[in-house]
Amino acid sequence: MKHSITVTRPDDWHLHLRDGAMLQAVLPETARTFGRAIIMPNLVPPVVTASQAQAYRDRILAALPKEMSFTPLMTLYLTEETDPNDVAQAYETGLIKAVKLYPAGATTNSASGVRNFENVRPVLEKMAEIGLPLCIHGEVTTHEVDIFDREAVFIETVLDPLRQSLPELRVVMEHITTKDGVDYAHTGGDTLAATITTHHLIINRNHILVGGIKPHYYCLPVAKRETHRLALRKAATSGDPRFFLGTDSAPHLDGDKLSACGCAGCFTATNTMPLLAHVFEEENALANLEAFTSKNGPAFYRLPENTDTITLRKSDTQTNFPEKIETENGPVTVFDPGFPVFWTAD
Ligand code: NCD
Ligand code: ZN
Repeated sequence: MKHSITVTRPDDWHLHLRDGAMLQAVLPETARTFGRAIIMPNLVPPVVTASQAQAYRDRILAALPKEMSFTPLMTLYLTEETDPNDVAQAYETGLIKAVKLYPAGATTNSASGVRNFENVRPVLEKMAEIGLPLCIHGEVTTHEVDIFDREAVFIETVLDPLRQSLPELRVVMEHITTKDGVDYAHTGGDTLAATITTHHLIINRNHILVGGIKPHYYCLPVAKRETHRLALRKAATSGDPRFFLGTDSAPHLDGDKLSACGCAGCFTATNTMPLLAHVFEEENALANLEAFTSKNGPAFYRLPENTDTITLRKSDTQTNFPEKIETENGPVTVFDPGFPVFWTAD
C-alpha cells in the first residue's frame, strides 16, 4: 500500500467563491491547495459583462492572503442579452476562460439564465469560432420532468441537438451526476469534456434521505442512485482525458442550509484532495489521480499545467478536518464524507 503520492498542483475547474465576507472566509480553503480555479459567475447580480468579471477578479485577488498564490480563471454568465463582441474581447485579452450557461431556474441564482436558446445563438457561434469553452449546467427546468431525470433529459433534448447544430463549440458538461452523462461524454471528440465533483463520487441519494434528511448533502444536480455514482467513479478514476475535477464547492451559511427551504450546495474546498486520495485508493487508481486533478483540465482548457507539486500522505491516525469554516455572518459546514479519512494534503 502506498503511503504518499506527489502530484502536479491541482486545479479546480468549477468553484463558487461568492463575494464579500464569504469570499474572504472560503478563498484560503481553495488557494491553500489549488493553483487555479474556474470561478462561477452566479453572484447576485450575476457576472455578465467583461467589466464585471474584471472587478470580481480584482476583489478575489484582494481577498487572497499574501502568502498564498492562486489564479482565478474568470467566466461570464450567459444571458439572452450577452453581447458576442464583449465576450470575444474578454477572451482575447485573457480575462475570461469560459462562458457559463445556466438554464433559467436550474439552480442557485440562475434566474437570469437562458430560456430560449435561439436568443444566445450569436454568442455561441462566436464562441465556436474563437474556441472559447461553454460550461453547461445540464439540467432541464420544466416542472413536468422529475428532478432525478433532469440531467438525462437535458442531454437528449438540449445538449445533443445543440452540439449537432454547432459541432465546433467546445463544451464542458459540468458536474455530471449520471451514467447517462458519462456515456454521452464518451461519445464526444476533443470538443467535449465533463467535470465531476468530489461529493458525487462519495454520496448517492440514500445519503441525503435515509435515516433523516441531510441538508449538507443536498446540492444541484442532486445526487442520484448508486449505479450512477459507480459510473462516475469509474470515469473519474479511469485517467480518460475527457474527465477532470470541478469540485462545485458551493458554500452557504448554515442558517441557509438548515432551513425549511434549504439552499443547494456542498462545501468541499477544505478537504477535497484528501477525499479524492481516499476514493482513488479505494478504486486502486491512485496512479490516475494526477490526470483527474492536475492534467486533463489544463489540456482541455489549453493552459499549461502548474509547475509545482503537492504531496498527499496517508497516516495511521484519522485526519481531523475542521467541521466548520467561520465567516463574519456565521459558519459554513465542511462536507463530511461519513467515513474516516487518513489522507492529508500539503
Ligand atoms: C451552486 C451554488 O450554490 O451556487 N449550488 C450547487 O448545489 N451546486 C449552484 C450550482 O452550481 O448549481
Ligand atoms: Zn456550481
